[in-house]
Amino acid sequence: MNFLGNEIFNYLSGMEDTEKEINPVEANTSIYSQDIAAEVKKIQDKYQIIGRQNELTLLLLAFKAKKHVILEGVVGTGKTYLARALADYANNQFFRVDGSEDVLSHTLTGYFDPPAVLNHGYTEESFIFGPLALAMREGGCLFINELNRIPESTQNVLLSALDEHTLIIPKLGNIQAKDSFFTIATQNPEAHVGVSALGEALKDRFVWIEVNYQSEEEEIEIVKLNLSPSTPHLNLIANMSVKIINLTRVHPDLRRGASIRGAIDLAKLIEAYGKKPGLQFWKEAGIMALYSKLELMDGTERNLKEILEEVIEEVFHHFH
Ligand SMILES: Nc1ncnc2c1ncn2[C@@H]1O[C@H](COP(=O)(O)OP(=O)(O)OP(=O)(O)O)[C@@H](O)[C@H]1O
Ligand SMILES: [Mg+2]
Repeated sequence: MNFLGNEIFNYLSGMEDTEKEINPVEANTSIYSQDIAAEVKKIQDKYQIIGRQNELTLLLLAFKAKKHVILEGVVGTGKTYLARALADYANNQFFRVDGSEDVLSHTLTGYFDPPAVLNHGYTEESFIFGPLALAMREGGCLFINELNRIPESTQNVLLSALDEHTLIIPKLGNIQAKDSFFTIATQNPEAHVGVSALGEALKDRFVWIEVNYQSEEEEIEIVKLNLSPSTPHLNLIANMSVKIINLTRVHPDLRRGASIRGAIDLAKLIEAYGKKPGLQFWKEAGIMALYSKLELMDGTERNLKEILEEVIEEVFHHFH
């Protein structure tokens, strides 16, 4: 046993027996209670969410524990979709901020409207509330898309708001957040360009949930959900679209493959075509749907169109 192992062993053996005791029935089944599982099922049904039991469970737990959440995952993994569903389920109003370098403190908190100040003075009437102030006042959900794109100087305004549920607005006073106020933020682990490091203090105020790509079966269900159920060859279209995007994710010449959005776009173009498409149309639709969503690996000699045509051809022959 290594040093750390020993430390942990000693620590655990010192614990009271009662602390170590676990319910043998619970230990043999899911680690979550049936109540939570039932609630997750309700959310899936109500908001047409395919799969994501685990992520929804964790989101629900964070919400019950009144913790602010960061959903971290690459582009198009359903972060916004999940966040919106939870906010709505929690019966909360949803206030959205899209992270960019243009988001300044007053974008979040709000500002006094000069003509209104001339008429009414520095009163609540003259204040244009920003999404953070509104979410706190209404006890809503503040949804910050791409939190790590917000400049560091702006991140500071969130610290006391998230921690102490208080926002101080000069000349207006304090806003005390309602109990149901909570934040869901997303961040993209790949987005290093134009990203300010998320301050340690801010990160410390969140709990973290990872959102990865879903299984092929689930992705096929998601694509079908976005097509009309009466579309001819529905299964074939959904299966092929998902297979194609999955191959772009593992292709050695591609740094970034397509997300489920790519598969949905491709399937919808094929659906719009109206008849059973041949290889040529699959290629055209595939390039149209996916070209702008992919990134080439540095230093590769090949071009995107060529790679896409090759992938589509392979998938087409696999299914025909
Ligand atoms: N589990 C799911 N069930 C049903 N539909 C889903 C699911 N996940 C994703 N989708 C679909 O995929 C689309 C893209 O998801 P979403 O916009 O939430 O991704 P995102 O992670 O927020 O992307 P980005 O990083 O680009 O903001 C959604 O609009 C929805 O139609
Ligand atoms: Mg999003």
